[in-house]
Amino acid sequence: MNFQAYVSLWASCLVGGLLFFTLHSSSKPVDYVPQCPMAKPHRPSTYLANTPVIDTILHDPEFRNQSLVKLQNAIRIKTETHDDDPITVEDDPEYWAKFDIFESYLKSTFPLFYQNTELHKVNHHGLVYIWRGTNTTLKPLLLMGHQDTSPVPESTLPLWTYPPFDAHYNGTHLFGRGSSDCKNLVIGYFEAAEELMKTGFIPRRTVIFSFGFDEEVSGVRNKNAEWLEEKFGSKSMYAICDEGGVSLTTLDGTTMAVPGTGEKGFLNLWIDLKTPGGHSSVPPDHTSLGIMADLMVQIENDPFPSYFTPQNPTYHQYVCLAENSATIDQELKKNILSSLTSSLANKRVREYMESSRWLKYYIKTSQALDVIHGGSKSNALPEFVQLTINSRVAIEETIYSALRKYLGNVKDVAQKYGLGLSYQLKNESAVEILPPTPQGDFLVHTDEFFDVAPLTPINDNHWKLFAGNIKHVYEELVWPEIYQGPDAHNPIIVSPGIAPGNTDTKYYWNLSDHIYRYRPGEYTSVETSAHGVNEWIKFDSHLQIIVFYFEYIQSVDEIDD
Ligand SMILES: *[C@@H]1O[C@H](CO)[C@@H](O)[C@H](O)[C@H]1NC(C)=O
Ligand SMILES: *[C@@H]1O[C@H](CO)[C@@H](O)[C@H](O)[C@H]1NC(C)=O
Ligand SMILES: *[C@@H]1O[C@H](CO)[C@@H](O)[C@H](O)[C@H]1NC(C)=O
Ligand SMILES: *[C@@H]1O[C@H](CO)[C@@H](O)[C@H](O)[C@H]1NC(C)=O
Ligand SMILES: *[C@@H]1O[C@H](CO)[C@@H](O)[C@H](O)[C@H]1NC(C)=O
Ligand SMILES: [Zn+2]
Repeated sequence: MNFQAYVSLWASCLVGGLLFFTLHSSSKPVDYVPQCPMAKPHRPSTYLANTPVIDTILHDPEFRNQSLVKLQNAIRIKTETHDDDPITVEDDPEYWAKFDIFESYLKSTFPLFYQNTELHKVNHHGLVYIWRGTNTTLKPLLLMGHQDTSPVPESTLPLWTYPPFDAHYNGTHLFGRGSSDCKNLVIGYFEAAEELMKTGFIPRRTVIFSFGFDEEVSGVRNKNAEWLEEKFGSKSMYAICDEGGVSLTTLDGTTMAVPGTGEKGFLNLWIDLKTPGGHSSVPPDHTSLGIMADLMVQIENDPFPSYFTPQNPTYHQYVCLAENSATIDQELKKNILSSLTSSLANKRVREYMESSRWLKYYIKTSQALDVIHGGSKSNALPEFVQLTINSRVAIEETIYSALRKYLGNVKDVAQKYGLGLSYQLKNESAVEILPPTPQGDFLVHTDEFFDVAPLTPINDNHWKLFAGNIKHVYEELVWPEIYQGPDAHNPIIVSPGIAPGNTDTKYYWNLSDHIYRYRPGEYTSVETSAHGVNEWIKFDSHLQIIVFYFEYIQSVDEIDD
C-alpha cells in the first residue's frame, strides 16, 4: 500500500511549523480538557515474568541470527503478484504454485506453530490458522498480513544495490522485496506466537492468523474473510490488526505512532464519449477529443470540498499534535483546538492543509485524470474517447456523492455541446440523465469502487489497550533509557489516523468494528522503499514486531470483551 502522502503529512506539518513560524512555548487555557485519545502504557501482567524472553528477542545475538535467517529465507521465495494475474486460481494452478512453496516453507520453519494451530486453506492459497483458546465465549483476535509482494520490474533490477531476492544483510539492515511489505509482519506473527508457545502460554482467547495472497493486486481472490464470517459470524472478532499506518516518526522531539483507524474510499471512473465519425477534412468545431479536453479542464477546475471534522481520524491526529507538540505554530494550534466551535478557525486549518499537496488529501476527495484513449487516424474524426479518473473518497463523502460531482461536470459539458448522458454502476442497468442526440453521448461508468471504511472507535478500551501496548513496547521495552527516569524524553504520542491506500481489511469490515492498520517498526513504509527499488528494513524493527505481538496477544488474552 501507499504511505507516501501519509508520511509526508507529518513531515510537512512539522517542518512547516518550524520553517514558517517562530517557536513558542505551549500554554493551554485553564479549563481546557485534552481531547487527544492518549493512552497510558498497557502491559500484560506477565510482563515481568517474561523479561528474559523479551530481552532475548530484543538483544540476544543468537536469537537475532536465527530470526534473521527465517525472514531471509521467506524473502528468497518469490511471491510477486501482477495486475494481469489470472483471477480464477484453478485456471492456472502452476502460476500460483509459488504459494505452495511459501506455505511449505512456513510449515518446515515453524513446526511448533503448526502443532498448536489448525490451518485452513481458503481459495487454495489463502491461509487461515486458528490457535484455539480455552474460552470460546471470548471473541477471537484476528491478525492479518499478505504473503504476496509487489513485483520487481525487470527494468529496475540494475538499480538494486543487492539483488531483490538475495535478502542481503549488512549487519544492521536487511534488503529485499517484501522485507518491509510485509513478510516481516507475517514472519513476525509466527515468531511471536512460537515464543509464546515455548513459554507454555495457552490462550483463553482464540487467535486467528489470516494471510491473503493477492493484496498487492487488490485482493479480489481473498476469500478468507467470507470464510471466517461463515464459521464465526459477523462482528465475531475482538479486533483485527493488519499492516498500514505510520510505524513511528520523530521530528523535533515529537515521536508519533499513527495506527490507521479509517480508510478513504476508492473510485475508478470511466467516462466514454461517442460521436459520429467522418473525414477530418470537414470536422465539426469540436471533435470528441476537444470536447473531452473541455470536460477535463472543467473537472480539474472544480475540485472537491475539504472538511475538518471529528468524523475524520485526521482531525484527532491534528488535535494530538496541537496538544502535544512543542514546536507547532501557536496560531495553528489555537485554530485546531477551536475548529469545532469557530467556523473561521476551521477554515484556517483547512486553508493550512490545502496549501500542501501532501496534506490536503487527508481532508478531501482527490481526483486524478490518469488515462485517456481516443482517435485512431490522422484523417479520421475520433468516434470514441475514454477518460479514466481515480478518486480517493474523503471520509465525509460517499462513492455516490463523488459520482454526483462528476456527473454534474459531465452534464454541463453535455449540455454545452448538445450531447446525451447516462451512467452505469457495476452491472446494473444504465440510468439516462440526458437522452442521446445525433451529436453523440456520454456514458459514465464504474465497476471498481470501495466505500469509505467504517471508523474504528478511539475512545474505548480496545483502543486504550492497542495504543497502550505500543507505548509499553517502545517506552518500556525497546527504549527504556530514553523514555524512563527523570530526564525522560516526551512520551510517544499514539494517534489515530487515516490510511489513504487500502489494505485487505476492506474485505473484513463485517468481522469487527475494531480494525487497526499498524505495523511496528522504526521506519515508515515509504522510508523503507516499500514497492520501490532497494526495499529494506532495519532489522531491529523486525524484532520489535515480535515483541509487540508477544505482548499484545497476552494483553488481549487477559481481558474479557
Ligand atoms: C548466523 O550464525 C551462524 C553461526 O552462529 C553463522 O555461521 C551465520 O553466518 C550467521 N548468519 C548470519 C546471516 O549472520
Ligand atoms: C547497512 O545499510 C544501511 C542502509 O543503507 C546503512 O545505513 C548502514 O550503515 C549499513 N550498515 C553497515 C554495518 O554497513
Ligand atoms: C451482477 O453481477 C453479479 C455477480 O457478478 C450477479 O450476481 C448479479 O446478478 C448481476 N446483476 C445484474 C443486474 O446483472
Ligand atoms: C457484509 O455483510 C453484508 C450484510 O450481511 C453483506 O451484504 C456484505 O456482502 C458483507 N460484506 C462482505 C465484504 O462480505
Ligand atoms: C469465559 O469468559 C467469560 C467472559 O467473557 C467469562 O464470563 C467466563 O466465566 C469464562 N469462562 C471460563 C470457562 O473461564
Ligand atoms: Zn502490504
